[in-house]
Amino acid sequence: MLSQKTIDIIKSTVPVLEVKGTEITKVFYKNLFTNHPELLNVFNHTNQQQGRQQTALANTVLAAAQNIDKLATIIPVVKQIAQKHRSLQVKPEHYPIVGQHLLGAIKEVLGDAATDEILGAWAEAYGVIAQVFIDIEKEMYEEASSQEGGWSEFKEFKVIEKVEESDVITSFYLVPKDGSSVPTFLPGQYITVRSQIPGEEYLSNRQYSLSDASGKNHFRISVKREAEENQPLGKFSNYLHNQVNVGDTLEITAPAGEFTLNTEIDSDVVFLSGGVGITPLISMAKSIASIQPNRQVSFISASRNGKLQAFENELNQLKEQLTNYDLSFVYENPSEEDLQNNNFKKQGYIDAEWLNKNVKSDNADYYVCGPVPFLKAIITSLKGLGIKDRQIHFEFFGPAMNLDTE
Ligand code: HEM
Repeated sequence: MLSQKTIDIIKSTVPVLEVKGTEITKVFYKNLFTNHPELLNVFNHTNQQQGRQQTALANTVLAAAQNIDKLATIIPVVKQIAQKHRSLQVKPEHYPIVGQHLLGAIKEVLGDAATDEILGAWAEAYGVIAQVFIDIEKEMYEEASSQEGGWSEFKEFKVIEKVEESDVITSFYLVPKDGSSVPTFLPGQYITVRSQIPGEEYLSNRQYSLSDASGKNHFRISVKREAEENQPLGKFSNYLHNQVNVGDTLEITAPAGEFTLNTEIDSDVVFLSGGVGITPLISMAKSIASIQPNRQVSFISASRNGKLQAFENELNQLKEQLTNYDLSFVYENPSEEDLQNNNFKKQGYIDAEWLNKNVKSDNADYYVCGPVPFLKAIITSLKGLGIKDRQIHFEFFGPAMNLDTE
């Protein structure tokens, strides 16, 4: 336990760190990778370049510090991060390295203001916070390997099928190379895919949602080709699209993630996807179709136009399995062909008025996934319609941030 004095020091330094937090974490990462370049095999280089990870780590350390005397309140956030850590193979021995560099960065940025007393308090607090993560991650590693067909580190999978789902999304069907069985997962979970891109010095890791139902003898990921090949944002997805083919090997870790569908209850479910945010949601919808076919399901899939709409056939086929199913395609900017085929329900953006008229259900669970502006707009609309926080479940791709939808 931390002493009251340590807690007081931590709390009194939070305002300074709020101002300097991002600067501290920038220095931290620079020094960390200079002294431990092997960690570049673990971190996502694109997130680093964009400064996204800096913000995520700074926010979390501050949130933990603000709640240092009642850490139990941040356990749900810790669990979500711990899932990511486990999926990326963050291990207990990494924590002292990160701690040492974080403390070093605080000292470097704050200069004389970082007294021995302050640094001592932070060292102690970091130890407590790190232990919370290490304990939760230990349980997650054990859980991943104890499951039938499960494993705890990276495992080689072979690509057995590659399917173009839209102009920008391609699916990869994966099976274990050693012929072992494929574990079940909670619909909505993701895997980390690791590979050595030719010409790159370090291994690259990316997380992709599993897009097929659980309980099949393969995993499926559906990857959006991001930006251009020569831009950092598109490096891994372009590599998968252009260079990874049937018969090739990818390393993956066992399914992880807390954005999952509860199939123990039978509340109405509304899925709202924006673009490639469809991937975890179609896994959820397909899982409901196989185990809860009478559950009321609404699926609203928003895309720019029909050519960018993935899984149109799969979503339509669910009508044969689900007895209470309502499907809507929303196209922001439909093409001539879309207008001729009249294959969408709404043109433009989904707004509160449309939701109110078409899908509002007071007791439904709403699962929302897509880019940040889409999430903000949908969540704000749902809240405006009186939907409670506990009914809204969401995930977007990239490091966790505050969405500020209050
Ligand atoms: C991701 C916090 C320790 C490696 C994250 C995220 C947060 C975070 C907030 C973003 C989660 C998300 O994307 O949903 C922390 C805190 C730590 C800690 C508070 C200490 C108490 C570590 C350690 C390592 C590590 C020891 C291993 C060297 C990573 C990696 C990611 C990550 C590789 C994924 C980010 C990316 O590659 O873009 N961490 N972390 N973290 N963390 Fe940690």
